[in-house]
Amino acid sequence: MSTETLDLNNSDFRVLLEQSNRLVLEQFDQVQQQPGYHNFTQREVASWFNEPLPAAPMDQETLLGFVRDKILNTASGNFGPHMYAYVMAGGTQVSVVAEQLAATINQNLGKWHLGPAMNEIEQRVVKWGAEMLDYPDAAGGIMVSGGSAANLAGLTVARNVFFDRLNIRKKGLFGQKPFIVYTSKEVHGCVDKSLEVLGIGTDNLRKIDTLADFTIDLKKLEAQIIKDQEDGLLPFCLIGNAGTVNTGAIDDLEGLAELAAKYNLWYHVDGAYGGLAAALPHLKPLYKGMKKADSVAIDFHKWLYQTYEAGCVLIRDWPTLKSAYYKEADYLDTQSEDDQRLDLNKYSFQLSRNAKAFKVWLSLKAYGFDAICSMIQKDIDLAKYLADMVTAAPDFELSAGSDLAITCFRYTGQRTDPDKIEALNKRLIPALEEDGRVFITGTKLNGEFVIRACFINHRKSKKTTDYLLEVIREVGQKLEETTDHE
Ligand SMILES: Cc1ncc(COP(=O)(O)O)c(C=O)c1O
Repeated sequence: MSTETLDLNNSDFRVLLEQSNRLVLEQFDQVQQQPGYHNFTQREVASWFNEPLPAAPMDQETLLGFVRDKILNTASGNFGPHMYAYVMAGGTQVSVVAEQLAATINQNLGKWHLGPAMNEIEQRVVKWGAEMLDYPDAAGGIMVSGGSAANLAGLTVARNVFFDRLNIRKKGLFGQKPFIVYTSKEVHGCVDKSLEVLGIGTDNLRKIDTLADFTIDLKKLEAQIIKDQEDGLLPFCLIGNAGTVNTGAIDDLEGLAELAAKYNLWYHVDGAYGGLAAALPHLKPLYKGMKKADSVAIDFHKWLYQTYEAGCVLIRDWPTLKSAYYKEADYLDTQSEDDQRLDLNKYSFQLSRNAKAFKVWLSLKAYGFDAICSMIQKDIDLAKYLADMVTAAPDFELSAGSDLAITCFRYTGQRTDPDKIEALNKRLIPALEEDGRVFITGTKLNGEFVIRACFINHRKSKKTTDYLLEVIREVGQKLEETTDHE
């Protein structure tokens, strides 16, 4: 290593890259066998890293060996086909390469001239995102960390536009009635968090009941809006779900658009999980109305299979995003007359920003969107395949299917008593974590605990789906044997 910089000379750096590439290839060699989980205790994992600040360098081989043994080979199985928890997409090889290339030139996308090509790529990817959804061409948007940040950004603009309508900058908040936001009970928790951050408060979030298919009940919604108006409150925002996190339910987005227009509400759609599936021709009709939204959250680290992080918010009236965040500062003034250079910090809370869109751009160029759509379709088909298998099996029961790729079910084994089935399924989740072959979590549907399998990984197949049921059955049977004696 040079003493003047931290750089290695080129030949030593080549060795480091080759060693690191070998590690990457080793991971891909065993991707299909990657277990869902390695059941180390928290104490053990913490002990691997429990050391004082290292003042001196570690030998490179030893360091990479440690990375392989303690970090890569112990990783949770998100990368392989046995991950079903939450909404965990496994990444693409091209996004792995893109991360390295983007890190090499280390562009900061806060200002256009700090990364001209990467800035233009971000704007192009945002346009492509809009195109996937049939969202208006004139809309704009920005890359953010993920779905939560995309929802927060959309709701921030919604709040600020409403503040302008009420002339809050002049009058202040004093004397205003609470502003009310509407969505369904199935909404993702990041909306609650956003409303806390925005000072609106979760008491002012109306979570409307859903119909049997977990989509929002429009009649109850309208009745609540009318009641709030009669009570002198200020309804201001309606949030539709384009794929709920629990079951992938897609609200009646057209019906919501009509209500938003009727009551003059900002219309935001959370498409973080399911928004991109609107690109599939046979699903398009389910998303009718999404293009009327004022803002939409989408997430490329979900159904575009990107590595973390890669969220995106789309705003119909793009200048409103700028008015939410724009701040002048002497040290940021480029003195440039070129108003075609878009400084993205003006549209974002962040000043320094990495080139999140590059991996999306490279993946779309390298694979083509059609290939990605066929992987989304495969996920949907596999979720249906699992639902069919669960329905046909005597020892499982289907709790909810989906138009998208989430299947909720329960292992019943020999049990018929609902309380015992509930207890068994709750115990199954930690037992499966301990087993480690697959990684799956649960949720509650109408208050009932269910196992929830989310298919959002292009490395899954019918074979891996069969394996999921086999493993759950085996672990479930063992659990029954032990708990039935209790
Ligand atoms: C519907 C929905 N909205 C928002 C989010 C939050 O996205 P992120 O985890 O990228 O912040 C998720 C995550 O699963 C989601 O499913």
